[in-house]
Amino acid sequence: MARILITSALPYINGVKHLGNLAGSMLPADVYARFNRLMGHEVLFICATDEHGTPAELAAAEAGQTPAQYCDEQHEIQKRVGAGFSLSFDWFGRSSREPNRKLTQHFADVLEDNGLIEERTSRQVYSVDDKRFLPDRYVEGTCPNCGYEKARGDQCDNCGTLLDPVDLINPYSSVSGSKNVEIRDTRHLFLLQSKLQDRIRKWVDARSANWPQLTSSIAYKWLDEGLIDRSITRDLSWGIPVTRHGKTRAGFEHKVFYVWFDAPVEYIGSTVEWAEANQQNWERWWRTDKGADDVAYVQFMGKDNVAFHTVSFPVTILGSEEPWKQVDRLKAFNWLNWYGGKFSTSSKRGVFMDQALELLPSDYWRWYLVANSPESSDTAFTWESFKASINSDLNDVLGNFVNRITKYASAKFEGQVPDGGTPGEHEAWMVQQLQERLPQFIAHYEAMEFRKAAAETRAIWAAGNEYITKAAPWTAYKTSVDQAALGIRTGLNLVALFGIIAQPIIPETAKKILDALNIPEGNRSLDPKKIGEGGYPALLDALPRGLPIAVPPQLFTKIEDAQVAEWKARFGGE
Ligand code: MF3
Ligand code: ZN
Repeated sequence: MARILITSALPYINGVKHLGNLAGSMLPADVYARFNRLMGHEVLFICATDEHGTPAELAAAEAGQTPAQYCDEQHEIQKRVGAGFSLSFDWFGRSSREPNRKLTQHFADVLEDNGLIEERTSRQVYSVDDKRFLPDRYVEGTCPNCGYEKARGDQCDNCGTLLDPVDLINPYSSVSGSKNVEIRDTRHLFLLQSKLQDRIRKWVDARSANWPQLTSSIAYKWLDEGLIDRSITRDLSWGIPVTRHGKTRAGFEHKVFYVWFDAPVEYIGSTVEWAEANQQNWERWWRTDKGADDVAYVQFMGKDNVAFHTVSFPVTILGSEEPWKQVDRLKAFNWLNWYGGKFSTSSKRGVFMDQALELLPSDYWRWYLVANSPESSDTAFTWESFKASINSDLNDVLGNFVNRITKYASAKFEGQVPDGGTPGEHEAWMVQQLQERLPQFIAHYEAMEFRKAAAETRAIWAAGNEYITKAAPWTAYKTSVDQAALGIRTGLNLVALFGIIAQPIIPETAKKILDALNIPEGNRSLDPKKIGEGGYPALLDALPRGLPIAVPPQLFTKIEDAQVAEWKARFGGE
């Protein structure tokens, strides 16, 4: 049994996330966590809301709330929506809580003690009318690169260039709209990333063999460009106060740590929250001197987050010279697009997580998003492919099989796993299919190739359909009840197996199936040894004869053209 720590990139607090965010981090992390639990490993799956920074302050102002009120509310909403999608976090924390504050201030202290943080004077946009400095998105203006007139201080949304607010042409305050701004000197803390350039490269070299190409190419791109020292404080009131050895740092009374400095620390902070709430020990997951050296740590994120996780956060961790657990495997995702374009809240394109749950149960979305995971390239969501995949994979291939077999067992075999019959060539074929396919299924999950894992899951379901067509118990019943019993018994064993292997991706449906078959909670895992050694009895005759079984409630309903038309009108498409 291995110990596996899994984190998903922390969703920003500023509103419910869309399906693209879900598909690129939280969902695959959940599927991987569920797979590893299925294999009997000890898993700790951690996430949290990322609550600081200008986006949070701006969203709160727009909602007419204080940042604290806004974050309280939005955290609960995101937590509820996550539960609606069956995201099985062991803990869903908040970066604004005490443990993260303490840890972030601690990291700043030790980094400064180690000569990796220094105070510098920097030039910044100051709004005379607002009487404040304007960090990041608080200032907008014309992009020096492409001429777009509404570029944000930190980045141009039109051409994607990362910007320094002082480089904007015709800058104005996004707080008040005032153009009465000037450049003034102010003091900030800088993290001296350039000093760690060589160590970070060695660290990446030692790990990148374990990373998908998308991850390592981004890491090396940043290293090749050269790490630059960056400011880790901002002129905001909402955030983690800047302290030095426990006291407010002189001159930093109105500043806080930059959100990207404290956010990844919340992976640890959230684990501390979990430990405190459950009388658990967080250090055995995070401190290599306290037992975490045998933990496998896997991170999930969208490609825009990779640089922060392969370069910036490692600077914090390595620079501390403390025995923190570091990431072993890092799975990054491309974008899920909406008909080739981007998801957009303002122009009503795309579906957000809460809306999706109003339309259909979470398993429909989970299946589609995993089966079409944007792993090797950007992928487009379309209602047409969504409908096709649900109707075929879930309804026809899985749902109908489960329904037919359990109904027949109820009608003809008193709702029990029947005895009788002698296995022959069809059962041998099915065993061979499973012996070939189950190891593939496991291998794809272990490689974190989620599309392939979903495809293999479907292929196993499809093989079961092929078996039952060959065995045709309904025809056999007319001449030999024993022969029919064999087909139905084998079919019921397949239903159980289909439910077991469906658990990572469609957990609610899997539970309905396994409950109907009265499979005890403790018997719902997958034992690779059994697959290797197992022939007919282990794979297709595992259910006790006479075990009572029920027909599960309807698993899926087909998506109709009329629904697609309605959703297209409501959410955009074409
Ligand atoms: N909130 C960020 C985003 O949505 C991700 C933060 S990941 C963390 O892009 F590690 F920094 F927490
Ligand atoms: Zn631009």
